[in-house]
Amino acid sequence: MTSTSLKQRLTTQVVRQFGRPRGVLGRLAGWVMAHRATNRRRNLWVVSLLDVRPTDRVLEVGFGPGLAIAELARHASRGRVYGIDHSDVMTRRARRRNAAAIRAGRVDLRHAPVDRLPHFDTPLDAVVAVNSLGFWPDPVRRLGELRGLLRPGGRIALAGQPRCAGATADTTARAGRELHDLLTRAGFTRARVETLPLSPPVACVLAVNPVEGGADHD
Ligand SMILES: C[S@@+](CC[C@H](N)C(=O)[O-])C[C@H]1O[C@@H](n2cnc3c(N)ncnc32)[C@H](O)[C@@H]1O
Repeated sequence: MTSTSLKQRLTTQVVRQFGRPRGVLGRLAGWVMAHRATNRRRNLWVVSLLDVRPTDRVLEVGFGPGLAIAELARHASRGRVYGIDHSDVMTRRARRRNAAAIRAGRVDLRHAPVDRLPHFDTPLDAVVAVNSLGFWPDPVRRLGELRGLLRPGGRIALAGQPRCAGATADTTARAGRELHDLLTRAGFTRARVETLPLSPPVACVLAVNPVEGGADHD
């Protein structure tokens, strides 16, 4: 086997890990996610779009190495940030990254799949997921369940940067339309698409849990 094909096989194996990092290759995938400059930028950008206020209670689904969790906790300085991820490797890594905020009781990270959401006593202000929804079973149903955790007027941000070979701005535009459609089918309103010009671009769709009888309905 040539060194090029060995490298290609290793890359494929690592990329396969991104949906649920496990074992040694999962730790490698986690390291890549934590250190790739575009990944860091993507996560900071998505949090900036969510307009997090100091007292907000926010949930991230599929936090991976915990980059967005750290940024959310910085903004929600008097609120609380929750996260779930079905990867044990990522849960440990994200807990290490956010250890001080967890000790201070401002961040709570759980090892759980999106189809077994935790119970919250108080409704959430916002939900976020970055490059994670593509791995969820029955996403419209999951989005409906997440909407049930939000207060009326609560926000959601779903971001995706296509990682398939040869992805272009068209691939991103299609991904944005798909996220928009899923959110609308799950009952969210006022969906809008924002784009970050990376290579390929990132699409982030923001939407709102409508206020019953309010002016939020499309
Ligand atoms: C590609 S990584 C992105 C991680 C992080 N959001 C980021 O952008 O750096 C996808 C993450 O979603 C998690 N994930 C995928 N499917 C999930 C599910 N059904 N329930 C919970 N977490 C899930 C994976 O374990 C992984 O940590």
